[in-house]
Amino acid sequence: MNAPAAAKRRLIVAITGASGAIYGVRLLETLRRLGGVETHLLVSAAGWLNIQHELDLDKAAVHALADVVHNPRDVGASIASGSFATEGMIVAPCSMRTLASVAHGLSDNLITRAADVVLKERRRLVLLVRETPFNLAHLRNMTAVTEMGGVIFPPLPAFYHKPASIDEMVDHTVARVVDLLGVAQPVAAAWQGMRGETD
Ligand SMILES: Cc1cc2nc3c(=O)[nH]c(=O)nc-3n(C[C@H](O)[C@H](O)[C@H](O)COP(=O)(O)O)c2cc1C
Repeated sequence: MNAPAAAKRRLIVAITGASGAIYGVRLLETLRRLGGVETHLLVSAAGWLNIQHELDLDKAAVHALADVVHNPRDVGASIASGSFATEGMIVAPCSMRTLASVAHGLSDNLITRAADVVLKERRRLVLLVRETPFNLAHLRNMTAVTEMGGVIFPPLPAFYHKPASIDEMVDHTVARVVDLLGVAQPVAAAWQGMRGETD
């Protein structure tokens, strides 16, 4: 008898209504290119607003980047249960509303329910939070998620790799996120150290 084929690793990707929809879209494109991961996509209503405004993409184009698409209202979906095995979840970008809901365990839609499940099952949760400046509620909510084992990953651009374009900045952040999720071979170029005059 043949051994059963190894199950594909599943990853939940949510796009919520913060600025930076490009991060979620580029992540889906990158995961598809790397292969080996079954992506489960969720986009909030405000997420769609930002996708249209910032990227000029329609729903069909974004849905086509994922393997499975869920409606955030469908709280009975597979990913609402811990019995459905996933590697974890990334919210890119993550609004302060979704952050607050996750921090307080509200599970008020499928996005925040899936994040709640990922935390309770001790799987990887990464939130690309985007707001500036932060108020105390934002900071406290980020602390709460960190205390529960989630990773707060604001998509702050780095300059040490000398990006020549916005695309290169986005790609660098997405590569770091993919590495953090551990679902593919490392894609971000490792810093090799530098020698410079410090005194
Ligand atoms: C164009 C636009 C840009 C927004 N940018 C942000 C943002 O950067 N960060 C944030 O927390 N909320 C932002 N918001 C507000 C959220 O979209 C709003 O709080 C919404 O209720 C979030 O819902 P969601 O978490 O279900 O996506 C923005 C809204 C719009 C329409």
